[in-house]
Amino acid sequence: TVAEPPARFQGIDFRPSFPALEHIPFKKWKETAIAAYTNTHSGDFGYDEDPAGNWQLRTNICQVLLHTKGIRCLPSQVIITAGATQAIAMLSRLLLKPGDAVAIEDPNATFIQHIFESTGADIIPVPVDEHGLRVDDMPTHRRPKCVFVTPSHQFPLGSILSIGRRIQLIDYARQTGCYIIEDDYDSEFRYAGMPVHALRELDSERIVYIGTFSKNLFPALRIGYMVVPHELLDPLLRLKKLLDMHCPILPQITLARFITERHLEHHIARMKRIYSKRRKCLIAGLSNIFGNRVKISGDAAGLHLVAEMAESFCGSQVVAQLEELHIKVYPAERYTIVKGRYENQLIMGFGNVGEINILEGIKAIESVLRQC
Ligand SMILES: Cc1ncc(COP(=O)(O)O)c(C=O)c1O
Repeated sequence: TVAEPPARFQGIDFRPSFPALEHIPFKKWKETAIAAYTNTHSGDFGYDEDPAGNWQLRTNICQVLLHTKGIRCLPSQVIITAGATQAIAMLSRLLLKPGDAVAIEDPNATFIQHIFESTGADIIPVPVDEHGLRVDDMPTHRRPKCVFVTPSHQFPLGSILSIGRRIQLIDYARQTGCYIIEDDYDSEFRYAGMPVHALRELDSERIVYIGTFSKNLFPALRIGYMVVPHELLDPLLRLKKLLDMHCPILPQITLARFITERHLEHHIARMKRIYSKRRKCLIAGLSNIFGNRVKISGDAAGLHLVAEMAESFCGSQVVAQLEELHIKVYPAERYTIVKGRYENQLIMGFGNVGEINILEGIKAIESVLRQC
């Protein structure tokens, strides 16, 4: 028998935090790659690359961070990683050993929780509300080695960590001596309110800031980065070298050029308009079809929002029935550690769903819920 690649899901997928794959700027990327490859030297292809990654890419990241987030950092503090995933995996390996404690938001991105669990550390779930992490509920009986937060757009509930809680969290980290891991995965897509500054501004030596190109370009690129406190720089570089020496050079030099030539900036501006329309369409569609039976939140930034319905998604066949209709939905409860707090909420990604499909999907959700 001839082996076949696994079939991809064909249908309407409300997967949160997923970019529009049909709008990936391939033509520009291809032209940029050709120009970038043409400018290489044979010496660039040996074993001597910096584990921190391509210098020009790290320089460009510093400039982008300064202009968009108010982050002041040097290229020497930036490490290029295989997505935010590798940055989180490296930090958890460096900072945690079995029996240590790590405080993480509850709910959270399950794959990130699994990374922390894989170290053998104890996970301390900290609840989240409309102002982000509830810092009052941080553990007092144990000192975590690190705290994981998504302050610019909580994953998955979408709240933004308030300034009061930011200060409170820094105080907590200083008092307990723990590091804060700030995962800023999608906040360049902001639709309402003032731009959100990075938490790292408040303490660059206690916070590791993580960014990714998975949402503003595409996930399979596998390029992310972290801006690290001085104390962690050498151990993280040693670890990066141990794991994979450095990220592949050709995508890095292409991306560096893509940023230098301002294609990334233009792509983000274009995508912001597209996502803004999809977000509006989802909000209007939910309101039209569910009326006052739906409450929307977490929609100020990113590629997903939260729809709270009158009905529960737990224990019912809603998800399975919709999947039979080729529609994938994501109940908030699948992202929780402590169960039972978000049974009526759906996390709805609109990044990779066109407007016609958004409306079709909402109608199907309503009709399945009506029959339950
Ligand atoms: C909370 C969160 N952080 C980071 C990422 C991005 O990970 P990566 O850069 O490895 O693609 C995701 C992707 O879904 C996410 O949900």
